Amino acid sequence: MNCCQPTDPDNKYPSRIAIDGPAASGKSTIAELLADYLKYLYFDTGVMYRAVTLEGLRRFGSVENEEIITQLAEDILIDVLPPSKNDGRKFDVLVNGEDVTQELRTARVNQFVSLVSAYPGVRTAMTVHQRNISKRGKVVMVGRDIGTVVIPDADLKIYLEASLEERARRRYQEEIGAGRAVRYEEVLSSLRGRDEKDSSRLYAPLKPADDAIIIDTEHLSIAEVFEKVKNLLNLSSRI
Ligand code: DC
Repeated sequence: MNCCQPTDPDNKYPSRIAIDGPAASGKSTIAELLADYLKYLYFDTGVMYRAVTLEGLRRFGSVENEEIITQLAEDILIDVLPPSKNDGRKFDVLVNGEDVTQELRTARVNQFVSLVSAYPGVRTAMTVHQRNISKRGKVVMVGRDIGTVVIPDADLKIYLEASLEERARRRYQEEIGAGRAVRYEEVLSSLRGRDEKDSSRLYAPLKPADDAIIIDTEHLSIAEVFEKVKNLLNLSSRI
């Protein structure tokens, strides 16, 4: 599925591409393939909320105090750089210069990241960075509010969805494949909790933009979803 040469020498494809959807809907996998195919930057915005959550837990032991965590989000320097290690990571995430990539997906960060990402001040701080990066163009940006809030004028907006049970099944297999001992019921309940928090928050909730193209991935393989996305590129081509 990877391609070996730039597929867009004439700049005919959409430049700023937004991919949103719930946890474990396949956004990151598809966005990575697409960015690789187009030779665009792949930017997973979730890592920024995870970095603030991790740093809050480390510094204060909890992230319940909205004012303190908002101040933290405004103060810390989060960098996303090309991968420096060959351990499966797609990029390095640095917080004030320290590589925290491996700590961003722990159960504890998973547990609290929806709370932190619901704080309006945290979202405002993260959105400013994300918009600045999007302005450079040639980017595939992944998140929950990219098409609705971060780049409402994106050139192509895609929203991936699948049932909670199917997403839990995928995440469970991923975890087991990575050698982590988890139970399916735990994964299901954690995803259900995050879905509820991400969709019901007041500020920038998870939902498709009015002009997003929704792809139901329930019965599709990654290759099939990617094929659909490539067709969308051609449909929105500027030539
Ligand atoms: O995609 P992820 O699981 O790494 O996202 C982590 C959390 O961050 C998730 O609870 C939703 C939130 N998030 C968000 O609110 N807005 C984004 N643009 C990206 C992630």
